[in-house]
Amino acid sequence: MSGAPSIVVLTGAGISAESGVDTFRDKDGIWSRYDMNEVATPEGFARNPLKVHGFYNERRRGLAGVKPNAAHEALARLEHEHRGEFLLVTQNIDDLHERAGSTKLLHMHGKLDSGLCGNCGQRHGWPGDMDAFSPCPACGSTGHMRPDVVWFGEMPYHMGEIWEALSRCDLFISVGTSGNVYPAAGFVEIAGDSGAHTIELNLEPSEGITLFDEAIHGRATQVVPAYVERLLAEPNRYRK
Ligand code: APR
Ligand code: ZN
Repeated sequence: MSGAPSIVVLTGAGISAESGVDTFRDKDGIWSRYDMNEVATPEGFARNPLKVHGFYNERRRGLAGVKPNAAHEALARLEHEHRGEFLLVTQNIDDLHERAGSTKLLHMHGKLDSGLCGNCGQRHGWPGDMDAFSPCPACGSTGHMRPDVVWFGEMPYHMGEIWEALSRCDLFISVGTSGNVYPAAGFVEIAGDSGAHTIELNLEPSEGITLFDEAIHGRATQVVPAYVERLLAEPNRYRK
């Protein structure tokens, strides 16, 4: 048995809730105020690009008013202090993990502060508003820029790398996700079937709770730092 365990962490909207970023399916969540078919599908964007740009512009503007919380910071600490392999996969499109210091990070649903050109396929940092006439900084075309986020019915990003990491990991930690949306909701099974220990850190039991070996329920800013402390104190606790 050599080396420290390989860890994969998956986060969802619940990790950013205490930073003031709305979740999707909690009471008063985003999907109780917006129709996901209108603002989070390619068909919705084709039908009404103005409405979709407005939805993401509002959320992008919101980034300026929020900051990482103790849970984001604890995961950045785990990345930097854990001696084994580490990968953080987030479903979130906010930039709070980056701002907390995470670097081994994959945004499987894209990023609010990135724009994608439907004409040339180039991606560009996009901190400000976007509209149907925003020119692409690379090809100059207008009317082809879209938020660089993955909509329902589209393939999430980095899936090859993620599946590879899940099949190799010794410990899978899921934080702040309701387990409603695939493929992320199936990650616990891939990791568990490969022999990893799987744990859910969430405010309440998720849809996939029965698939986890272990669960600690509570607010992310409480349970995540405590769990990271425990992991760093016993670095070799989980080895397949
Ligand atoms: N601490 C820990 N967990 C929390 C907190 C908190 N303070 N607040 C809420 N939660 C939990 C909720 O109990 C819920 O299980 O976070 C989870 C949030 O679930 P969702 O709102 O469904 O968000 P998420 O699981 O990230 O959604 C997945 O769905 O709409 C798509 O693309 C969108 O990435 C998103 C995906
Ligand atoms: Zn372009």
